[in-house]
Amino acid sequence: MCCEIRQWRMEDAKKLSLLLNNKKILDNLRDGLPYPYTEDDAKEYIHSMLSSDLNKVFAFAITFNDEVVGSIGVFRCENIHSNTAELGYYVGEKHWNCGIATQAIKKACQYIFDNTDIIRIFAEPFASNLASCRVLEKAGFHLEGVLHKNAIKNNQVLDMKMYAFIKEE
Ligand SMILES: CC(C)(COP(=O)(O)OP(=O)(O)OC[C@H]1O[C@@H](n2cnc3c(N)ncnc32)[C@H](O)[C@@H]1OP(=O)(O)O)[C@@H](O)C(=O)NCCC(=O)NCCS
Repeated sequence: MCCEIRQWRMEDAKKLSLLLNNKKILDNLRDGLPYPYTEDDAKEYIHSMLSSDLNKVFAFAITFNDEVVGSIGVFRCENIHSNTAELGYYVGEKHWNCGIATQAIKKACQYIFDNTDIIRIFAEPFASNLASCRVLEKAGFHLEGVLHKNAIKNNQVLDMKMYAFIKEE
């Protein structure tokens, strides 16, 4: 299974809306995304990614056989954390468990370490999100700890896990 990551295109909006219009995905992401997730929502997202600061936001479509199958983004933090970035990602349900997220994360991290001064990339999955924790481990991230009661999602208080990938000297 070989996937690629590439810059978003406005014509990806339809496909993106179909992928993300899924409660199983939205339930594992931060709040703020509408449900149902429409093509207009996708257009707005792609437009905001394409017009964002290129030194702070690194947003990619994940493709497989030239079809958009997911999304991955690396977002630079601010102030004393400016050499740190947060990773976020999802893959359309039809393509789960084929190794796509693992490969996309490896590619995105490689791109960031090769092309920016970011030296730490972290992700904070819900502790209950076993697939995401597993993906991060497979992609070379290290578990740094459990963030107890760190989030409220769907009215439930949840633990999260802090995973990080550090650029080698
Ligand atoms: C998490 C997610 C990105 C994984 O994408 P993916 O392309 O299926 O990931 P991969 O195929 O690379 O790896 C999935 C791994 O998780 C494992 N896995 C899947 N479901 C699991 C579960 N319920 N319990 C334990 N492991 C599980 C798979 O077996 C596989 O590990 P393996 O290769 O050792 O067998 C995808 O499920 C998704 O988009 N989920 C919803 C959004 C989300 O959680 N985003 C991350 C927010 S932090």
